[in-house]
Amino acid sequence: MKRLRTQVGIVGAGPAGLLLGHLLHLRGIDSIVLEDRSREYVIGRVRAGVLEQSTVDLLVSVGLGQRLQREGMRHGAIQLCFLRRRHRIDFEELTPGRFITVYGQNELVTDLIAARRATGRPLHFSVRDLHIADFDSAPRIGFQTEEDECEVACDFIAGCDGGHGVCRPSILTDHAGVVRVYEREYPFAWLGILAQASPSCEELVYALHDRGFALFSMRSPSITRLYLQCAPDENIKNWPDDRIWHELTARFDTADAWSPNRGAILQKGISAMHSLVVEPMRCGRLFLAGDAAHIVPPTGAKGLNLAVADVWVLAHALSAYYHEEREDLLEHYSDRCLRRVWAVQRFSWWMTSMLHLAPGGSDFDYRRQLADLDYVTTSRAAMTSLAENYTGLPLDSGSLPSES
Ligand code: APR
Ligand code: PHB
Repeated sequence: MKRLRTQVGIVGAGPAGLLLGHLLHLRGIDSIVLEDRSREYVIGRVRAGVLEQSTVDLLVSVGLGQRLQREGMRHGAIQLCFLRRRHRIDFEELTPGRFITVYGQNELVTDLIAARRATGRPLHFSVRDLHIADFDSAPRIGFQTEEDECEVACDFIAGCDGGHGVCRPSILTDHAGVVRVYEREYPFAWLGILAQASPSCEELVYALHDRGFALFSMRSPSITRLYLQCAPDENIKNWPDDRIWHELTARFDTADAWSPNRGAILQKGISAMHSLVVEPMRCGRLFLAGDAAHIVPPTGAKGLNLAVADVWVLAHALSAYYHEEREDLLEHYSDRCLRRVWAVQRFSWWMTSMLHLAPGGSDFDYRRQLADLDYVTTSRAAMTSLAENYTGLPLDSGSLPSES
């Protein structure tokens, strides 16, 4: 058994785990990052791609913004499309100085891996049989590499292993009475595609149509990213390319004849829609961050940004522990994050409910959704609320009422 020692053992090399490793490195705190998939798999994974203003500001401030600022696509608005018309929600006017930046999650993860390598600090891919133990006293992480059976002893474990990892289940099994899981399943899913087609609009377009939801997004000046609402148990085999284009064109039917450019479909997949929150996000010396602690439906483009917000709070708390012998920020970690988590859950649920057709929904529901869209595209107060939440709440919005 190869025995290792570090201050913070980080499980998962997604945005949460890698960014935490970087923030701790900048504060001279040791860590090891352990990932069970290969590097190629992790950077090849097609996922979300919208960064909030606060996320971009943080990444730039910690030296991770070069490629993002060069290749990211900064948007000053999004569009809502319904009843054959598109309506702009103008961030520049409503929330001056707060934009979104379109930059694929896999591009960000590629940058984070390069930054980790540059620090020389340990990052292991393709580890096997990873398991955690004694995280309420003397945390240990066991894992296998090609060569060795290893165990790393650490002061703390950061569970950044996403929605299908081992850290959340470990708490649920070993400390069932301590945690509570809040969950909501949505009766629809998203069929997403990447297309070799130049984006025919410079902004994201969210559409509600009586055939269902559709989303127009992008990855670069030559790659369009599109989604459409489908059944939760949909089989991708039932969606040949021309059917996908036919459905997208139908749902983006607009009076000004705008529609997405077509091109070769490079990738397609179906992703489930659900909301989940684990409370508390801490158990002893194990701290959950990102998708390991909470899942949001992608309609508000919040998953990645929420993971960033968690590790920003956690890095601060760990730095205060090691450099100022303070335990209070670690004590407050869960409550601080959960205040923001629920604010983001509310916004993501609202966007999802306003823009999707619920199976079995009535005409009344559809007319009410249209009225919701009419209100949010005509009332300045409602527009500003959407813009404020979409561009992202400031990172310290998690500060506890007692602290503000
Ligand atoms: N051992 C080691 N690594 C693991 C294990 C395990 N048992 N289980 C999962 N992992 C890894 C996954 O392979 C993945 O690379 O943990 C990582 C978790 O990363 P993400 O799922 O990207 O989660 P997170 O970092 O919290 O980022 C969350 O980013 O992709 C967006 O929308 C997505 O909301 C999500 C956000
Ligand atoms: C994406 O570009 O992948 C994207 C954009 C907005 C969302 C979700 C995903 O709400």
